[in-house]
Amino acid sequence: MKFQAPKGVSEYFPQRSGAFERVRATLITAAATSGYQLIELPVFEDTELFARGVGESTDVVSKEMYTFEDRGGRSITLRPEGTAGVMRAVIEHNLDRGQLPVKLWYSGAFFRAERPQAGRYRQFYQVGVEAIGYDDPEIDAEVIAMADRGLRELGLKSFRLELTCLGDLASRQAHRIDLDKFISGLELDEATRAKAALNPLRLFDDKREAIKSAMLNAPILLNYLSAESRANFEKVQALLESFGVPFTINERMVRGLDYYTGTTFEFVHEMLGAQSGIGGGGRYDGLMSQLGGADLSGIGYGIGIDRVLLACEAEGIELQAISPLEIFVIALGSAEKEYVAKLINELRGAGISSDMAYGDRGLKGSMKSADKSGARYSIVVGSDELVSGSAQLKDMKTGESQSVMLSSLPQILRRSS
Ligand code: HAM
Repeated sequence: MKFQAPKGVSEYFPQRSGAFERVRATLITAAATSGYQLIELPVFEDTELFARGVGESTDVVSKEMYTFEDRGGRSITLRPEGTAGVMRAVIEHNLDRGQLPVKLWYSGAFFRAERPQAGRYRQFYQVGVEAIGYDDPEIDAEVIAMADRGLRELGLKSFRLELTCLGDLASRQAHRIDLDKFISGLELDEATRAKAALNPLRLFDDKREAIKSAMLNAPILLNYLSAESRANFEKVQALLESFGVPFTINERMVRGLDYYTGTTFEFVHEMLGAQSGIGGGGRYDGLMSQLGGADLSGIGYGIGIDRVLLACEAEGIELQAISPLEIFVIALGSAEKEYVAKLINELRGAGISSDMAYGDRGLKGSMKSADKSGARYSIVVGSDELVSGSAQLKDMKTGESQSVMLSSLPQILRRSS
């Protein structure tokens, strides 16, 4: 019997895993260089955490959770997103008792039982951040600029940042009264009406043509912002402008999770078709208190590593692995093999990533391995080289060779890297 991976999961193996690793590391660096620290959490949590945190009106909770009973009869769910778990940990471990904001980043696998398609997987990867306990346009702009920086650092260009503001409680309540009134005048099936009762904003996200066109005349939340929310949102925009982070306003943006308030945003890539959301996030005022913690607000984002990698590929960006091979060494005989094993052991000890041709593949086969390895240099050690102690160091890109002493390889390679 031949096993296959479960349907709809993403997997990365060489060579593509090198590019995946580069995407992840670049997105993490953007957060780590802004004072965010790692939080590593379980991939499964109490089901109730997501039901309460993410919201019953969402597809994520109502249709897409991987939920099972563990051996102790507890209802467990594989995490569909990261924010609820981070809040649980902040509350449980009193991380909010020190200086605020608490600034955290995370990276790992997330699980949603969605219909698989290009860029939409049942297990996927995110790099995410959360800044908790400080409600100010300054931190909103910091978080958004950080995501933008990570994406640009990778070389991405064909994406846009969409921004909106869901306002404070007063703004949302004022809007909801009018939106509920508007929706009550629409012809809706029972399931849709039930969804709208939980969160009427969901209807802005409905894919059915009839509802889409009906919602064209619906009242827009941005027009209901309180003076304070409006001033806040304007400050966020002014800060982003001063940072040189371009954005557009999308007044109809609806995020797939219910906890959002205030500044909300999405990064949309223009070459990815239906699954174009490469990252998104926003502020969440009530989440922490709803999960039993202090009444602290937070803001964060999740960037989809899988989709960012697809976006890089669509833009033709070549991503270097984190530790690409510096040198590939080919030994032509058994005495040479022994010598080369010792040589690359020494190179590795000196921090130079090196590999060798194993087994007896002959010069031609070994050169193929050198090509495939992606190494920057190759070197062939035969009996002549063993005697003279010197060999031809070949630059695999240009094809140029230079004669070098084998004993000085560590110094030469360290200088050139
Ligand atoms: P989200 O928008 O649900 O937000 O997911 C963030 C990103 O994860 C998406 O923009 C997308 O790139 C990627 N993603 C989501 N689902 C899939 C999937 N099935 N396959 C591949 N990629 C996917 C959150 O998860 C929030 N926790 C973000 C956040 C943090 N908001 C505040 N703090």
